[in-house]
Amino acid sequence: MTQEELFTYFHDLGIVPVVKIDDAKKAVGLAKAMIKGGIPCAEVTFRTAAAEEAIRLITKECPEMLVGAGTVINPELAEKAVNAGAKFIVSPGLNKHTVKWCQEHNIPVVPGVCTPSDIEKGIELGLSILKFFPAEASGGVKMLKDLGGPFPQIKFMTTGGINPDNLPDYAKAPNVLAIGGSWMVKPDLIESEKWDEITKLCQEAVIKLQGLTLAHIGINLPDRDAASHVAKDFEKLGMTIKEGNSSIFMNGEIEVMKRNYLGKNGHLAFRCYDLERTIFFLKERGFTVKEDTVAKDPKGKIKVCYFNEEIGGFAFHLVK
Ligand code: 3PG
Repeated sequence: MTQEELFTYFHDLGIVPVVKIDDAKKAVGLAKAMIKGGIPCAEVTFRTAAAEEAIRLITKECPEMLVGAGTVINPELAEKAVNAGAKFIVSPGLNKHTVKWCQEHNIPVVPGVCTPSDIEKGIELGLSILKFFPAEASGGVKMLKDLGGPFPQIKFMTTGGINPDNLPDYAKAPNVLAIGGSWMVKPDLIESEKWDEITKLCQEAVIKLQGLTLAHIGINLPDRDAASHVAKDFEKLGMTIKEGNSSIFMNGEIEVMKRNYLGKNGHLAFRCYDLERTIFFLKERGFTVKEDTVAKDPKGKIKVCYFNEEIGGFAFHLVK
């Protein structure tokens, strides 16, 4: 995997759990629980003596797991981690020696920053992906928004104090590449081998990260007259008509189509925080993009796309 592919994967997956493991013998059980929970990726931190062996075991036993090393505070630790199988290096702060070692060895590196000065040092080292740490204590999403002003080219992996409650705020932030945290892999859960609990927490995190909610329902009608008739019925319920070229929107919630468009009965539109990420999420669940429906904004980001599969006789699409 090239560095570019790795960062695209971080974005699409959206979550990189931060693992602190005391007993390397538990590493494979942990990795399997995370894979089952839909997060085949981890930053194993060098905060314990077991980190190196844990990375080695996961790499050997679970090749589908993308494992990297965290809390890598010098080049020596980076070398140890890479020799054990780590595919990326993360550090709490920005140490130019660690960064340079990784760059010389072609290993993706994400050093931690929490001030504009740190970010400038990262830019000087040629980096565009940085870890924002400790996220909550450093001002959280408000700080990220302000950092986005002078540093629009930088994307952040954010960790430190993120949990299921504030996760959506980070998921919505445009300069967040991926979210890190330990809430789904807490040391006590690993210690007591609560694999099902870890799987469940991973599944919940992945779903919450998407922010999928129903935006509107589209109803297919054969022509304009039939559509107007139906729209008038909805008007009797107090809904407001807004007529467009191909459909009539009722309160923005129901779209009465003026022709038999996609879907046996019509379509469902779902909002999400990040279309590219949710497309990845849905592909993992067996859905396939209907390519001729993909519409992009001027920046090349997908703003609408339908899927080939129907749900209950309804086609469905994503909107931002
Ligand atoms: C890290 O190193 O990224 C953090 O310790 C993870 O933060 P959290 O434990 O608050 O999730």
